[in-house]
Amino acid sequence: MDHLKNKIFKIVSAAAAEQGVRAFVIGGFVRDCFLGRPSKDIDIVVEGSGIELAELVAKKVGSKLSVFKNFGTAMLRYREHKEAEWIEIEFVGARKESYRRDSRKPIVEDGTLEEDQQRRDFTINAMAFSLQAEDYGSLVDPFNGMEDLRNGLIRTPLDPDTTYSDDPLRMIRAIRFATQLGFTIVPESLESIKRNKERLSILSRERIAEELNKILMARKPSIGFFLLEETGLLEQFLPQISKLKGVENMEGKGHKDNFAHTLQVLDNICPYTDNLWLRWAALLHDIGKPSTKRYEKGIGWTFHSHDFIGGKMVPGVFKQMKMPLNEKMKYVQKMVQLHLRPIALVQEEVTDSAVRRLLFDASDDIDDLMTLCEADITSKNDKLVQKHKRNFALVREKLVEVEAKDAIRNFQNPITGELIMSKYGIPPCKEIGIIKEFVKEAILEGAIENNYEQAYALMEQKAKEMGLQSV
Ligand code: CTP
Repeated sequence: MDHLKNKIFKIVSAAAAEQGVRAFVIGGFVRDCFLGRPSKDIDIVVEGSGIELAELVAKKVGSKLSVFKNFGTAMLRYREHKEAEWIEIEFVGARKESYRRDSRKPIVEDGTLEEDQQRRDFTINAMAFSLQAEDYGSLVDPFNGMEDLRNGLIRTPLDPDTTYSDDPLRMIRAIRFATQLGFTIVPESLESIKRNKERLSILSRERIAEELNKILMARKPSIGFFLLEETGLLEQFLPQISKLKGVENMEGKGHKDNFAHTLQVLDNICPYTDNLWLRWAALLHDIGKPSTKRYEKGIGWTFHSHDFIGGKMVPGVFKQMKMPLNEKMKYVQKMVQLHLRPIALVQEEVTDSAVRRLLFDASDDIDDLMTLCEADITSKNDKLVQKHKRNFALVREKLVEVEAKDAIRNFQNPITGELIMSKYGIPPCKEIGIIKEFVKEAILEGAIENNYEQAYALMEQKAKEMGLQSV
């Protein structure tokens, strides 16, 4: 049997026979076999004790076992030979109640395979391969998961209200699988999600963020975000994004729908980056728009400083999603804050000093920023799009040229605080900051070159003006 060619399956099969229990491969592994997707994790369900079977298998393969008593599960790592990839195999006893990997409730392992299958999330995730000698490798699929897989449908094995209230995270999982696989959620399931959206409040934000990240890493994340919006889930945990939706009209003038625009930017950026945080930046780049929106007579709709305000909102979003407030957050914030700068460069004359300032502010993230800006072009007017793209290509050229000449990326001021203190015999004080800033500004403006000699001379001149005497 091709799909069970890994040696581990025969080993589990023999161990189960020895213990007189029935064991099955179940869940994602089975689904991914039929989808032709590689899958590194294997879930084994046993009509009996998952931990006991895992113990015997671990003994047979000589590998260490991690036992999670409260979850009733055990996990071991296995590889067929030294060059083979490690795979993780998780064992669980079949249960009558809902399956949740991180459930804290004690587990009653007295279910049959079918009872276990009907408590899983989706029909496509509830299929199993038998590991019994008599029908080894045959598919056990009481809920027609195979047909749903063929037709690209996300459907719950039971009444969706039951499946979703067993674990409300499944509402987002439905959308996540629909996004990753390009599947459709069946109408009764979609309706149930809309009805049960408020149940999301009992979930930890970490679990939600994990699913959200998977949606963001899909090839076309907009599918997921449109569904999250349509079902009302999005406003439960990311109201800043759902607020982008809508178009207002004044004096016959409308603005673009910033929700649709944001999602297009997100999709646009995907072919160019697998960096989750750049995708987050695309998602958040316009979150400052709703609060800065104004209608100005004779001008139209404006969103002044939405870049700056949006940047300020980023830590709040991270906090609310319980995502780490670390350098990743700072990176996203920087991208949001700077996302208009290259466009501004294009609209004005591209001076060297403006390019130097952009290089200074974006530093090593300049390429990512340019990628974001290019993705931000969503005009329907093809001529305009081409024009913007040509302009951005020019900016990119200019960035390379200026960087080669002035080395501003990772700017290090040639004049350090220590140098000023020792030369003028002064303790740490605000004069030092003033001199350093003066030198930095002169370099960025192009008044002097970015080198030690010119910077030193300028420091001396400024210090003299300030009445400092060298020692
Ligand atoms: N499952 C479930 N309800 C959940 C989570 C998981 O019923 N809330 C079941 C499904 O049968 C699923 C299996 O547990 O297939 C394994 O879950 P998980 O590893 O989270 O997902 P996979 O289906 O393996 O998919 P992926 O690896 O893409 O997350």
